[in-house]
Amino acid sequence: MKTYTNINDFVKARSIISSKDKVALIPTMGALHKGHVSLIKKAKSCADVLIASLFVNPKQFDSSSDFSKYPSNIDKDLEIFSKNGIDMVFAPQKSEVYPENFSSIVKIENLNQILEGSFRKGHMDAVSTIVLKLINLSNPHYAFFGEKDFQQLKLIQKMVKDLSINTEIIPVETVRDENGIALSSRNSLLTKNETILAREIHKSLLLGINSYEKEIYSSIQIVKNIKNYLQNFPDIRIEYISIRDKNDFKALSFIDRPFVILIAVYINKIRLIDNLICDFK
Ligand code: PAJ
Repeated sequence: MKTYTNINDFVKARSIISSKDKVALIPTMGALHKGHVSLIKKAKSCADVLIASLFVNPKQFDSSSDFSKYPSNIDKDLEIFSKNGIDMVFAPQKSEVYPENFSSIVKIENLNQILEGSFRKGHMDAVSTIVLKLINLSNPHYAFFGEKDFQQLKLIQKMVKDLSINTEIIPVETVRDENGIALSSRNSLLTKNETILAREIHKSLLLGINSYEKEIYSSIQIVKNIKNYLQNFPDIRIEYISIRDKNDFKALSFIDRPFVILIAVYINKIRLIDNLICDFK
């Protein structure tokens, strides 16, 4: 495995990969966990050369305190990448990615304004901008994204389609711990008690799916049921709960197609997101 911090070196190394090889990109912000590893494993099953990026993108954080709190352990991350078969790591400095005169923003309209985009101003634009840059530099056949960040996945799929980018976006299922908590780098910021509380997020989503299975098809009613459940836990503050078409991501008032329930909450000061997909099988 080779690590590149410089764009020119990385692009040069990318350019000498055989054109017969299928190249996969796995974009990350480090603080790796089993969710990231599952992206790598899926990539390994589809591609010959695996590129991982490691860049904590400052522009996608709403506040500098959120950015400075973000966990980081580069040595451990590199060890995890190496152990799991990554061939090239692109880990640029901020000044490499955003030189002083950098002035571009990629906006995927509508998707960038709702839910995450509405509560975290500029966040979705910052994600589409960095991911386009990483795709341009890596020129991958495939790029892997977790369903854990479902709106992000939809945003990237839309960007690739709208801009005719020749990279296939491959979704990867959310990895959870034994208590149902979706793995996230931010989980390490939770106290023991907060970690126990975090189990309620997935439980509340299961309750939502359960309402649907009991033939409640009104989104308003299902959201009400989830809210009522979470009201039992005063340290959980709901930011949004939304039920959307799994494919086109439009808000659903009546559920008659595959859907996803998305949630964002604060547990005290830590913001967590999760979702649950209900495919009609
Ligand atoms: P990061 O939070 O490091 O996540 C990197 C990738 O891992 C994303 O595609 C995310 O959806 C996926 N992932 C995170 N937790 C997961 C879990 N529990 N199960 C499955 N996949 C999981 O998402 C980002 O970084 C950034 O926004 C990035 C795309 C790198 C752009 O800066």
